[in-house]
Amino acid sequence: MCIMSGRSCLAPALAALLAILAAQAQARSEPNKVCVKIETGSVCGQMRRADDNSDYASFRGVPYAKQPLGELRFKELEPAVNWTGNYDATNEGPICFQTDVFYGKIMQAREMNESCIFANVHVPKEALTASGRKLPILVFIHGGGFAFGSGDTDLHGPEYLVSKKVVVITFNYRLNVFGFLSLNSSEVPGNMGLRDMVTLLRWVQRNAAAFGGDPNNVTLAGQSAGAIAAHVLSMSKAAEGLFQRVIMMSGTAISSLYSPSPYFAQFLVKQLLAKLAIEATDPHEIYKRLIELPAEKLWEANRDLIDKIGFLTFVPTVESSFPGVTPMLEDYPDILLAKGRGKDVPLLVGYTDSECETFRPRLEEFDLVQKNKESPFIIVPPKVLFTTPPALLPDIGKKIETKYYNNTVTVDGFIKCCTDGFYEYPVMKLVEARGGNSSTFVYKFEYESDNSVLKEVAELEYHGAGHVEDLTYVFKVNSVLDESSYLRENDDAEMTDYMTNIFVNFMQCSKPICGKSESMWPSASRDQFLYQEIQSPNVYNIAGVTAHQQDVARFFDTLTRV
Ligand SMILES: *[C@@H]1O[C@H](CO)[C@@H](O)[C@H](O)[C@H]1NC(C)=O
Ligand SMILES: *[C@@H]1O[C@H](CO)[C@@H](O)[C@H](O)[C@H]1NC(C)=O
Ligand SMILES: *[C@@H]1O[C@H](CO)[C@@H](O)[C@H](O)[C@H]1NC(C)=O
Ligand SMILES: *[C@@H]1O[C@H](CO)[C@@H](O)[C@H](O)[C@H]1NC(C)=O
Ligand SMILES: *[C@@H]1O[C@H](CO)[C@@H](O)[C@H](O)[C@H]1NC(C)=O
Ligand SMILES: *[C@@H]1O[C@H](CO)[C@@H](O)[C@H](O)[C@H]1NC(C)=O
Repeated sequence: MCIMSGRSCLAPALAALLAILAAQAQARSEPNKVCVKIETGSVCGQMRRADDNSDYASFRGVPYAKQPLGELRFKELEPAVNWTGNYDATNEGPICFQTDVFYGKIMQAREMNESCIFANVHVPKEALTASGRKLPILVFIHGGGFAFGSGDTDLHGPEYLVSKKVVVITFNYRLNVFGFLSLNSSEVPGNMGLRDMVTLLRWVQRNAAAFGGDPNNVTLAGQSAGAIAAHVLSMSKAAEGLFQRVIMMSGTAISSLYSPSPYFAQFLVKQLLAKLAIEATDPHEIYKRLIELPAEKLWEANRDLIDKIGFLTFVPTVESSFPGVTPMLEDYPDILLAKGRGKDVPLLVGYTDSECETFRPRLEEFDLVQKNKESPFIIVPPKVLFTTPPALLPDIGKKIETKYYNNTVTVDGFIKCCTDGFYEYPVMKLVEARGGNSSTFVYKFEYESDNSVLKEVAELEYHGAGHVEDLTYVFKVNSVLDESSYLRENDDAEMTDYMTNIFVNFMQCSKPICGKSESMWPSASRDQFLYQEIQSPNVYNIAGVTAHQQDVARFFDTLTRV
């Protein structure tokens, strides 16, 4: 208790007063500083400039849960601990442990740390005024094969979107072995990275209003692995009610590019434990050994696995049910989809015409052609590998070789097969499976810019648009696009305007075009695979299924089971 005349009472009061004075002085000396109060305390970000020179408040590196350190490694995230004073959210936090095999220069080299559970919240200035209307929110899940990447502004600059009066939230989630190891036990059920996304979405429900966002108006979006995750969450009971609609850029949960099979997960665990010389077989023993290791050791083992397997390693996995654990993925996505899960969620689904061209450097570095000689099933889609009786695999391998390789495996053939089979085909199947009553708006991004960030940075040449190219017209690639060294043409700015309008419209009316022109972009349906063919800015051109697409569908129908 406080004794009125005692020093013990004065001291804390004085300290509090000094703290307030200090904060005020600091705010005066940092005019760009902007603070809001969220459930865990006050966070201070910075006013920054959007692309159209409007101001937005940027809160970077805000912890959205307690960091998963020590015994919390692999565990579902716990609530963040309250802090006193102002949390400095001027800069992004460290990125999660990872080995990048794709982004290269479009991602900035950054400090890695297991303490990486941070969100970035970007808010148009007017939403922070007391009378401001609460704005719709875009929660964006970054890509990177569930293994690398971050939500940071090097690749996900909000400068285009915030000038269109929406709140943009990006974040990090646990990746690779840290985020997707499955020991098939209640302690490590797998899909921790997906659980992080649900934790983030719940955090958005509780805290978005403090940032000027409307928690009842959330659009969940993602690119690549982020799109796969967004699709999974749209079919998962664990995420029900946390968002109103979904945007998927170049990724569907049903793509055969990854295997959600628990047997694949088990195969990876064996490889990982062998690398770490852990002989335990009991999941609890394994967990105890794994949490004792420094993060760097797990990171190295994970990197060796990527080098060996080449593409996706730890990924979303079908979970067994365990008491007290809410599964993220109860069954194969194809089965959930066929049961009608998520069919009431409006979807905007995009892909590009030359998706896998941007993987060429990795395919060459990995030496696909040589690896295929050692392991002939490398050309068989991962999902097919783990859901097909082994005796049938040679036949499937032969079919793919005949169709895409003229019997000689090449990187070119792989790129074609990958573009058709991993990206275009599953979008067609998704539309078909969602049936006639769902809203499924599809775009195929074919815009070929003279200033493609991806082509420029990786010194690539190809026709059309590769994986990630559509993203660069929605988010600013700040790692590359600093004004002085890189020029964008008018067309690129117009394409940015066009793409961001599509996103913002969808956030407002659940359609890519709102109001009287909405018929310019109808929903695709079971009977009609309709898609917006995006070739030039501001041109609307609805296309229907082509002979090539029909051929692709027929071919991959014969390979895919489950
Ligand atoms: C953290 O602060 C919130 C108010 O913002 C309060 O409701 C909650 O009880 C606090 N939690 C702890 C553990 O102090
Ligand atoms: C991770 O960050 C913590 C502080 O949050 C620091 O103590 C630790 O040394 C960092 N670890 C690495 C590997 O950088
Ligand atoms: C995972 O555990 C469940 C329950 O213990 C078991 O039924 C299932 O077969 C296991 N899965 C694998 C791939 O071992
Ligand atoms: C396939 O290979 C054969 C012989 O190697 C060649 O004669 C033929 O033109 C090739 N077909 C195509 C479509 O490339
Ligand atoms: C479509 O929706 C209507 C009304 O919401 C419903 O009566 C009908 O059964 C649905 N059709 C299908 C194929 O789901
Ligand atoms: C979402 O926000 C937009 C823009 O403010 C508004 O037009 C729309 O009605 C909102 N939707 C919902 C479901 O609240």
